[in-house]
Amino acid sequence: MKGSDVVITEVSKAFGDFTVLNNVDLSIKKGEFFSLLGPSGCGKTTLLRIIAGFESPDEGTVTFDGTDVLPLPPNQRQANTVFQNYALFPHLSVYENVAFPLRIRKFPKTEIADKVAEYLKLVQLEGHAHKKPNQLSGGQKQRVAIARALINEPRVLLLDEPLSALDAKLRQHMLIELDQIHDKIGITFIYVTHDQQEALSVSDRIAVMNQGNVLMIGTPHEIYESPATDFVARFIGETNLFDAKVLRAEKMNQPSLPNMDSGATEYMAELDIPNLGQVKVTTVDEVKPGDTVSFTIRPEKILISKERPSTKREDINLFQGTVDEPIYSGFQTKFYVKNAEGALIRVVKQHAKYSDEGPDILWKDSVFVSWSANDGYIVGVKCPAGENP
Ligand SMILES: Nc1ncnc2c1ncn2[C@@H]1O[C@H](COP(=O)(O)OP(=O)(O)OP(=O)(O)O)[C@@H](O)[C@H]1O
Ligand SMILES: [Mg+2]
Repeated sequence: MKGSDVVITEVSKAFGDFTVLNNVDLSIKKGEFFSLLGPSGCGKTTLLRIIAGFESPDEGTVTFDGTDVLPLPPNQRQANTVFQNYALFPHLSVYENVAFPLRIRKFPKTEIADKVAEYLKLVQLEGHAHKKPNQLSGGQKQRVAIARALINEPRVLLLDEPLSALDAKLRQHMLIELDQIHDKIGITFIYVTHDQQEALSVSDRIAVMNQGNVLMIGTPHEIYESPATDFVARFIGETNLFDAKVLRAEKMNQPSLPNMDSGATEYMAELDIPNLGQVKVTTVDEVKPGDTVSFTIRPEKILISKERPSTKREDINLFQGTVDEPIYSGFQTKFYVKNAEGALIRVVKQHAKYSDEGPDILWKDSVFVSWSANDGYIVGVKCPAGENP
């Protein structure tokens, strides 16, 4: 495998009194497509600049394949950066922009020509070599920047919101291309974004950051389905998040959750959610009566219907409410459903068939919402039984 392992250990950084990174630990594997995801100002760029060597940490270490890179200047780290704003040389042609790193290293002319051709092909810019940056579209400019960052074969490619200047459609397209480039060259990619969809769709693993802290590291599936904190649950996609009190929790004889570790114990917990009522949820976390927990259920896992669902299964949670607001967006409709006590549940219904019921459910309709105990998730215990919040 090409690329480098990048290990960040206990890295902290402050600007004046302001802590930008707080004891960050990350272990990124060779060849991984790893994303740093978090809201504006959470420290993503600062962390990337520390890895690249443009900034030094106040504390902590950064190693590539076990070698401490902190004493090395950026150009000796074999980590190249692609920035948001392209950073191309405006007076140089596409060819000369891409050739630039090799010219500095005094490569022979014929080798430069071969390599530039190879990398322009990789980013699908053959035929544009003679153009100047101002004759290119945003997507093409970013491809030049990617080719230039890759041509001297770094072990790590750092990408700081490289697609954010592009419109939504082009961003989608470039994202797929970036993924294909990653598959082809196989080096380590560290990708910074504040866009959850972007991170979920291309990453092998994601670190979710907020206010200088890494809150969770996991695969897109883990981050989406098993968020470690309320912040992660809310930041990644849309969700219903409630504080709840545990009424009962019993060990289950028959495991019901998919992809379970064979040794893990499952519990069927019954929760009380203020203004909503009692909710059943299967969990692998041991919870006990009296614990205050945070409970989440994703809108797309909830069924909505005007008729009472005919299910008799015990693990189904069923509530009644009124449609407060339907938001139709072609492939799906989002409903805000309010019950008599004022609890609000978001539901997303995908329109797989033209005849689907979705568009027939209207504002102020009385509806049933339901979901299975397996589809809810206990994010964590907020306050154990017997303790004051
Ligand atoms: N050189 C600096 N001097 C002082 N403060 C700085 C400096 N660089 C960054 N900061 C501050 O550190 C915090 C984190 O900045 P950073 O650029 O790492 O955030 P980010 O996660 O990349 O945000 P964005 O998504 O907006 O790019 C911000 O509050 C920023 O104002
Ligand atoms: Mg940034």
